[in-house]
Amino acid sequence: MDNVGAILQQLRAELEQHNYNYYVLSQPTISDREYDEKMLRLQKLEAEHPEYADPFSPTQRVGSDLTSDFKQVLHQYPMLSLSNTYSEGEVRDFYERTARSLNEPFEIVAELKYDGVSISLIYEEGKLVRAITRGDGTRGDDVTANVRTIRSIPLKLQGTDYPPVFEIRGEILLPWQEYERLNKEREEQEEPLFANPRNAASGTLKQKNPVVVASRKLDAYFYYLLGEQLPADSHYDNLQMARGWGLKVPDVIKKCMSLQDVYDYINYWNNERKNLPVATDGIVLKVNSLRQQRNLGFTAKSPRWAIAYKFQAERAVTRLNSVSFQVGRTGAITPVANLEPVQLAGTVVKRASLHNADIIAGLDLHLGDSVFVEKGGEIIPKIVGVDIDSRSILLGDKVRFISSCPVCGTPLIRPEGEAAHYCPNESGCPPQIKGKIEHFITRKAMNINIGPETVEDLYEAGYIQNAADLYILTIHDLLRLERWAEKSARNFLESLRESRKVPYERVLFGLGIRYVGETVAKRLAVAFPEIDLLIKASLEELTDVDEIGGRIAQSVINYFSDEKNQELVNRLKEYGLQFSLSEDMLTNRSEKLKGLSIVISGTFTLHSRDEYKAMIEQHGGKNSGSVSGKTDYILAGDNMGPAKLEKAAKLGVKIIDEDHFLKMIADGMD
Ligand code: IVH
Repeated sequence: MDNVGAILQQLRAELEQHNYNYYVLSQPTISDREYDEKMLRLQKLEAEHPEYADPFSPTQRVGSDLTSDFKQVLHQYPMLSLSNTYSEGEVRDFYERTARSLNEPFEIVAELKYDGVSISLIYEEGKLVRAITRGDGTRGDDVTANVRTIRSIPLKLQGTDYPPVFEIRGEILLPWQEYERLNKEREEQEEPLFANPRNAASGTLKQKNPVVVASRKLDAYFYYLLGEQLPADSHYDNLQMARGWGLKVPDVIKKCMSLQDVYDYINYWNNERKNLPVATDGIVLKVNSLRQQRNLGFTAKSPRWAIAYKFQAERAVTRLNSVSFQVGRTGAITPVANLEPVQLAGTVVKRASLHNADIIAGLDLHLGDSVFVEKGGEIIPKIVGVDIDSRSILLGDKVRFISSCPVCGTPLIRPEGEAAHYCPNESGCPPQIKGKIEHFITRKAMNINIGPETVEDLYEAGYIQNAADLYILTIHDLLRLERWAEKSARNFLESLRESRKVPYERVLFGLGIRYVGETVAKRLAVAFPEIDLLIKASLEELTDVDEIGGRIAQSVINYFSDEKNQELVNRLKEYGLQFSLSEDMLTNRSEKLKGLSIVISGTFTLHSRDEYKAMIEQHGGKNSGSVSGKTDYILAGDNMGPAKLEKAAKLGVKIIDEDHFLKMIADGMD
């Protein structure tokens, strides 16, 4: 084979491997950009040398796999939207229009309008066979694997009175509580926050790894049944039947006999919705009888038999006074709008997040503008627009994102594919230095009892430049500063001494490596029970750890490749901090499952899934989300998915039950 042939072969093999890492293992080892570059090179070479064409070349499936991560599927019934109304007058118009068109008595079903991601489920013979997103209304993404992880969606229906084939539509939602938990976690790791639960739900549903989806407790509510053989001839009764099959149909739907009933429903929920566990943004009104629905029909975009009434988002107009840029512990820059204080939804709003440079540019903000501030589904109020008409001729300065750090002046960087800008001067930029120390001392990390003001004082006085400096502070140093009395100084030194017992995984978390939150720190500590092992770990060794992807791995490598960080660790070690896994964690550990990749499937009786996951890791095994040629065992409980079963049989993967597994880790053999 000549040179070109060899290069082509090499490139194809490499790309296949990366495909596998990305799509099957969800653990890419190169960036999307590098991948795309390789793919382009291959495409170009193939175009220049058609004599080497190969139908199995990775270029031949660019269309299906690479333009989007999910398979696109045609909807049997297009997924239309609803026309929106915003006032009782428009609701009356709808009601009267319907009355005129039908010219006979009718019922309206009132429901809540859930603010999530719409989904269409197909059940065949009582089994969930497909879940498709709305997409462009005609075709959507097949997200079945992810949807199967949502506990409230039955994989198999209850009873027997369901049609052989039907579709049910609903909304996938991330409950408020889970949304707040997720954002808190992201905040700790200085990852960009989700603006609202809908974005969070949509981002979660598009995750490539169903294990991640499963860990974020999505929920789903259903509101529309479609099919050729529906059990009842009214929308309301069909939904009641669907509830009987185990589908989550909200019980707050109501049959309304008059316009007044509809208004009452709207008024009640306008307030009461604030007590619901999930986000809603309106009411949906639907003609109940399916026969009447057919008579009314559809416009090109939406049904004539239904409308949405949108709740008023709580909104205020105020003046944009200035924009400040805050520097976080990892150097991430957050733009904040400083507003003329204004009353909004029960609180006074003075500031609003502007998220990132793209959002600022999109709003075309100028200082002094009258801006609309909304507190819709969001916790943090946001600027949704500018009242252009009220701009005076003397337009204020255009708000631009800064190009250098507002504190230390270092030119900012914006990493490929990220929305955020960063100040790269990690060890010289004061808010980053202080932020890192503040993070180090938090309760979840070293639990040292001083507050941010004290860190500020100690830093300003020149006593601390990094976390290690805390450990050489003396009582004399402290007493020389204002605010310190002998007692508080002694307490502080005592809590520093105590912190030497804090376990390794929390110390690791305390270092504040970007993307290494509490859970990741734990995983890393178990996989690399000595810090030196972690410092030396390669990208591959890191991504081999369950749920450590390329981004986290690269961040760990970057952190330890900085000499200053290594020096910090060495000093902390010298001062007696824990940098290896505790005896406790170690004694229960073994290598009995070393090198084995195990998939957990189904429900268990002796331990929970999470406990089994932990056991697999504790004994050196690797948890994997999907069955592949690399899977060694499937730990199967009840109701294991048929797809997995089939795949396992095809690949000849061994299936073991709970008892067998527990015996394996007890004996160390299978
Ligand atoms: S019925 C043909 N009912 O709102 C109409 N939709 O703009 C089918 N939605 O795409 C939709 N709650 O994502 C319906 N109770 C409800 C709903 C609801 C939320 C969403 C859905 C739809 C959009 C309509």
